Amino acid sequence: MFQAGRLLLSRPACSVRPLPRPSARRTVCSAAMQMLSPPELAAQRAVISIEDAFSIDQVNLYDRLGLDALKKLATEFYDRVYADTEDAHFRSVFANSPKAVAIKNNYEFMAQRLGGPPLYSQRKGHPALPRRHAPFDCSEATAERYMQHMDAALAAVPEIDEDSRRRLHAYFRHTCYFLLVAQELRESMQRQAAAAAAAGGGTTAAPTAEQKQAVVQQPLPPGHP
Ligand code: HEM
Repeated sequence: MFQAGRLLLSRPACSVRPLPRPSARRTVCSAAMQMLSPPELAAQRAVISIEDAFSIDQVNLYDRLGLDALKKLATEFYDRVYADTEDAHFRSVFANSPKAVAIKNNYEFMAQRLGGPPLYSQRKGHPALPRRHAPFDCSEATAERYMQHMDAALAAVPEIDEDSRRRLHAYFRHTCYFLLVAQELRESMQRQAAAAAAAGGGTTAAPTAEQKQAVVQQPLPPGHP
């Protein structure tokens, strides 16, 4: 439920923070209610602190690493994604995107997100990541597979020092779960709209444009895509 720009979400009174593993977080019991924003919820789901999630904003990683390192990272990452023959669903998510396009989108976006020139927005407009990821069917398993390939890619680029690697890992992990939370909110609103339409005998089961925008325009900490 939305309330004053935040989400009213149930969290178990007996759960322990931080939760040990993503897979353990659903072993919940009673119904304490807590207000969480989407970035906070994503942090909890990713088992990561908000401070770590936004630690990329404490230094200019573009200045530190340079565009070539970001190109290498995007290439190492997507080489792994497109060679993934073990996870058919994960690979199918990328089936309609040429690898070279995905690589360019990734490093141009990262360049601007990390404090460099706005290469991505000059070419494609606002990143609006939740909206751009809306067509893809993501799950926790997808997010974890994404991170498996990203962690391997981060380790494969020697220009990325340990401190930068830690910050980037936290950023990518948090963003994966942020996109997942956005997707779940969209689906939840669609169900609510369908239920409301059915209860009222209405005919509009789909969410309104305003409802859809409410999901992707939730307030975010500074710098979040
Ligand atoms: C659950 C994990 C994720 C999945 C399954 C996923 C999937 C995809 C897919 C299939 C595309 C289309 C490829 C393309 O045309 O570029 C894409 C695009 C993109 N993704 Fe992700 N992604 C995930 C997480 C992330 C994260 C963590 C970031 C943060 C850097 C990110 C940033 C982008 C960007 C900037 C684009 C280009 C969007 C566009 O211009 O249309 N994604 N993603």
